[in-house]
Amino acid sequence: MNGPVQLAPSILAADFSALGEQIAAVERGGADLIHVDVMDGHFVPNITIGPPVVRAIRRVASRPLDVHLMIEEPDRYIEAFVDAGADMISVHVEAVPHLHRTICLIKKLGARAGAVLNPSTPAITLQDIAGELDYVLVMSVNPGFSGQGFIPHTVEKLRRVRTTLTEAGSSVPIEVDGGIDEETAPRVVAAGANILVAGQAIFGTADPERATRMLRAAITGTPTTHPA
Ligand code: DX5
Ligand code: ZN
Repeated sequence: MNGPVQLAPSILAADFSALGEQIAAVERGGADLIHVDVMDGHFVPNITIGPPVVRAIRRVASRPLDVHLMIEEPDRYIEAFVDAGADMISVHVEAVPHLHRTICLIKKLGARAGAVLNPSTPAITLQDIAGELDYVLVMSVNPGFSGQGFIPHTVEKLRRVRTTLTEAGSSVPIEVDGGIDEETAPRVVAAGANILVAGQAIFGTADPERATRMLRAAITGTPTTHPA
């Protein structure tokens, strides 16, 4: 077993004109973290939000902010995101030439530091940085957009990531991001995921509070309504 699983709704799929209400709804529904997707139009083919929006979210959110940087040269912006209120910051291993330095910078500034692997980046990439990480984020879609289909080989990859971490003496949480819904959530939890990001499955519904509860029920196991 991998202990209590945390839910991190991704606001990328939220109604940006009502962000405060949308965040309050998922917090009522039991969200543990608020996942914030930062994209620069270079590392990924989409542009989203920056530190001013994170600062605004910080004022209304009561849960930690989990900031996922999908940007080139993240070192230039890490301090600004920490100042804006990021509690967790993850960077893509594919985007940084000096990952050890970047991870140390995030921690020095007082945030928890995570390394993100794209779907095609092997688990073994973590071998020589595992001891420095506070968490790992495994992408189960190619980063850039909400609402994409879950890449099935992620399930096996999660097991390989856990093995790589264990062999390096680390037991940090594994976060998984992309295409998580009531069907895929139990599968990734069974494979060792500890933090589930979900965008469309929560904010793509008419009732994000209820959708958060439903996702929780899908991983904790709902009692069947059918007679045995
Ligand atoms: C994708 C982002 C995800 C995205 C997930 O690049 O990192 O956090 O919002 O959205 P869903 O859950 O809809 O795949
Ligand atoms: Zn994300």
